[in-house]
Amino acid sequence: MGYSRKLSCVLLLVVLLVACTKGEDPYRFYTWNVTYGDIYPLGVKQQGILINGQFPGPLIESVTNDNLIISVFNSLDEPFLISWNGVQQRRNSWQDGVYGTNCPIPPGKNFTYVLQVKDQIGSYFYFPSLAFHKAAGGYGGFQIASRSVIPVPFPPPDGDFTILAGDWYNRNHTDLRAILDGGSDLPFPDGLIINGHGSNSNTFQVDQGKTYRFRISNVGLTTSINFRIQGHKMLLVEVEGTHSLQNTYDSLDIHLGQTYSVLVTADQPPQDYYIVVSTRFTSQVLNATSILHYSNSAGGVPGSPPEGPTQIDWSMNQARSLRENLTASGPRPNPQGSYRYGMINVTRTIRLQNSAPVIDGKQRYAVNGVSFITADTPLKLADHFNIQGVFSLGSIPDNPTGGGGGYLQTSVMAADFRAYVEVVFENPEDTLQSWHIDGHVFFVVGMDGGQWSDASRQNYNLRDTIARSTVQVYPKSWTALYMPLDNVGMWNVRSENWARQYLGQQFYLRVYSPANSWRDEYPIPSNAFLCGRAISH
Ligand SMILES: *[C@@H]1O[C@H](CO)[C@@H](O)[C@H](O)[C@H]1NC(C)=O
Ligand SMILES: *[C@@H]1O[C@H](CO)[C@@H](O)[C@H](O)[C@H]1NC(C)=O
Ligand SMILES: *[C@@H]1O[C@H](CO)[C@@H](O)[C@H](O)[C@H]1NC(C)=O
Ligand SMILES: *[C@@H]1O[C@H](CO)[C@@H](O)[C@H](O)[C@H]1NC(C)=O
Ligand SMILES: *[C@@H]1O[C@H](CO)[C@@H](O)[C@H](O)[C@H]1NC(C)=O
Ligand SMILES: *[C@@H]1O[C@H](CO)[C@@H](O)[C@H](O)[C@H]1NC(C)=O
Repeated sequence: MGYSRKLSCVLLLVVLLVACTKGEDPYRFYTWNVTYGDIYPLGVKQQGILINGQFPGPLIESVTNDNLIISVFNSLDEPFLISWNGVQQRRNSWQDGVYGTNCPIPPGKNFTYVLQVKDQIGSYFYFPSLAFHKAAGGYGGFQIASRSVIPVPFPPPDGDFTILAGDWYNRNHTDLRAILDGGSDLPFPDGLIINGHGSNSNTFQVDQGKTYRFRISNVGLTTSINFRIQGHKMLLVEVEGTHSLQNTYDSLDIHLGQTYSVLVTADQPPQDYYIVVSTRFTSQVLNATSILHYSNSAGGVPGSPPEGPTQIDWSMNQARSLRENLTASGPRPNPQGSYRYGMINVTRTIRLQNSAPVIDGKQRYAVNGVSFITADTPLKLADHFNIQGVFSLGSIPDNPTGGGGGYLQTSVMAADFRAYVEVVFENPEDTLQSWHIDGHVFFVVGMDGGQWSDASRQNYNLRDTIARSTVQVYPKSWTALYMPLDNVGMWNVRSENWARQYLGQQFYLRVYSPANSWRDEYPIPSNAFLCGRAISH
């Protein structure tokens, strides 16, 4: 290292110290006890996963840049981790809480997550990431509000409701896991639930004339849902941290792992109305209802719950109508449109194709022919301690391999910090896919039916598409995105269909910087558990 380089490092350290001592961002503390407890989501008694006795778990309400100190006590009889769907963990995949980044919290032990919701706004959820625990609940809402000095492109709503909806099974997570481990697919779900309950158990009370924000997430395991409120329009305002163009919708398709915020004005005659979710792209349609109750309601709900859409084209057109408001602020004062994602040169194209191979007589799911299996040591720890033989870089190709076969592998894709990648999700199957990328947001530049080709780029939206972290791929279709790799770490890329994720439709993207600097990535937390071959370090 040359003298001037050394000097600039010293200067940087001083700058960092000054910055750290000056602008201390606020802290919020949470203590969570994770237990089993009796729940009755569809009227059948089950052991659910509760957090502080609640299902869904407590809502996290934070503000951009807050430091969240979340102590999680695992009172289950199984190893456990919580992950944060869409919450970026800048420079800090150590806190991501998935198999590849953290050792599980052993039964009877506790782990304290230290996360900063840096430069982010929006509506998200947390969930238990290991061992199909998500089928037992253990999830909750996660909000990041704008700092008070940052303009928000709509007036403060009169109320704020979190809706965590999705499909549900009456069989518990250990039974469902046994089905998957045995090499079979899951059966069709038993029903849909909203905030832990089936139909007509939740009431959302509103005052006539007032406007409310609904943050709706699909926390289910296997199906897309449609969300609608009888007699009311929904004004879309936010999609996973992006302030959207404020289009009006009668209903919204919400795919696995996705979150939308809408404003709803109680502008109808004072009575009760159905809030409905129903499954999408399924031959049998399940539904669940809640009640929107006007405080001055004259009586019950009028008629029957409104029917949902049935067309695939309708859904794709709705997806294409989602736009970023270029002049609105995001987490910072400058307009969202000042990041001109369409003007940046792509440095690499990654094409990812899902498939459903049978391997060794068992149903598996794969990406580019590789079906992910866990190793004995979390990948981030193996990387940190330089433990050989846990995974190898390049163990998943950048392009589909062709053919229907597949093989098992602890797949990790190597990528460079500050690369600007084009990712094309290609879905040759008849089912809808939903993909999530941890640690990043991406711009959904295009989607269409058929096979993607170079010519498909001519129709990309390079101006005002939405930036988000979870995106659907329609049956026999493709979805393309642009993504700045601006977050060093080990990041999970996964199907949000939980059976597919569990059976291998996922991998890790290792975003690497040779600088080995705190500016790019935080050091291993002092409270990190060690496990597998990391124990001896
Ligand atoms: C968690 O809850 C269980 C059951 O109520 C209780 O026995 C245990 O002491 C609690 N643990 C903590 C750390 O609060
Ligand atoms: C799940 O249900 C099975 C019976 O179907 C039971 O043996 C098992 O203990 C249950 N597991 C949990 C975690 O409740
Ligand atoms: C577990 O909780 C105890 C008591 O609150 C605390 O002292 C300890 O630091 C925690 N351990 C971890 C790994 O967070
Ligand atoms: C909801 O499901 C019930 C029972 O299957 C069915 O009778 C009803 O028509 C469905 N409603 C909607 C709005 O889909
Ligand atoms: C976009 O955001 C601006 C605030 O910068 C707001 O005035 C405008 O109404 C928004 N436009 C739409 C179409 O949502
Ligand atoms: C992008 O690539 C084009 C053609 O290769 C080049 O002319 C242009 O300078 C590049 N732009 C940036 C911002 O690097």
